[in-house]
Amino acid sequence: MTNVEQLELLYEIFDASLPRLAPGDTASTGKALDYALKALGRSDGLQVLDLGCGNGASTLELARRGIGAITAVDNHGPFLEELLKRAKGADVADRIQTLEADMATIAFDVGDYDLIWSEGSMYNMGVEAGLKHFRAGLKPDGVMALSELCWMKEEVPATCREFFMAEYPPMQDVPANLRMMESCGYTVLETSTLPESAWWLDYYLPLESRLATLQEKYAGDEDRMGVLATVAQEIAMYRGNSDYYGYVFYVLQV
Ligand SMILES: C[S@@+](CC[C@H](N)C(=O)[O-])C[C@H]1O[C@@H](n2cnc3c(N)ncnc32)[C@H](O)[C@@H]1O
Repeated sequence: MTNVEQLELLYEIFDASLPRLAPGDTASTGKALDYALKALGRSDGLQVLDLGCGNGASTLELARRGIGAITAVDNHGPFLEELLKRAKGADVADRIQTLEADMATIAFDVGDYDLIWSEGSMYNMGVEAGLKHFRAGLKPDGVMALSELCWMKEEVPATCREFFMAEYPPMQDVPANLRMMESCGYTVLETSTLPESAWWLDYYLPLESRLATLQEKYAGDEDRMGVLATVAQEIAMYRGNSDYYGYVFYVLQV
């Protein structure tokens, strides 16, 4: 299988029709937004940037709250098309502008944004690099909210540790992330761990159904079945080891 074919398969697995593309739920987005708005001291007229927005799980919730103008960035066009379709359905499309681009290269001026949002996406450019890069885009009291995969315990089963050493080597525990965020010039306002339901209901369970469909479609295709098995392995890892790692929302202020 070529690299292009592998990427095509990944986009076929993580299809735009899925409810969302990373662990999360509306309540967790809403809770982080409440902290952000409290710190900002205002709740409308905001300039908001939603990085790696995918098919818009977070964008739609931010838009529903009527907080201001949202620029939703992703480098995969079909996700943005789906986001706009959902936004029209929710009657909030006029609050969202989409931008198909590599988030690391988008243009912004110093202090353009009140709020920068990144659910399960800052890892794409590296969390530390992203924090440093986007800090300049925030207004003097601006807020950054991001969710990130983290170790939740010091002692972790070897199979689990080895899996993530291979899949996501930069993964850290919460205290290490807090130190990194502070060293990048942010004050940490709030941290909150996503509940296990936020992994299953709108993310892993629909993804498992999709994998089952594709396993039928690609039965006998060793390469593609191998890629599908890797995604299934990630889900099985969480099923057996959810005490050891999690997704944590961090709300930070400049
Ligand atoms: C794990 S998904 C999270 C999507 C969404 N925030 C959510 O919670 O459902 C990561 C997203 O980042 C996007 N992405 C990956 N690399 C990117 C890049 N360099 N620039 C912009 N978006 C990127 C992917 O297309 C995908 O939509």
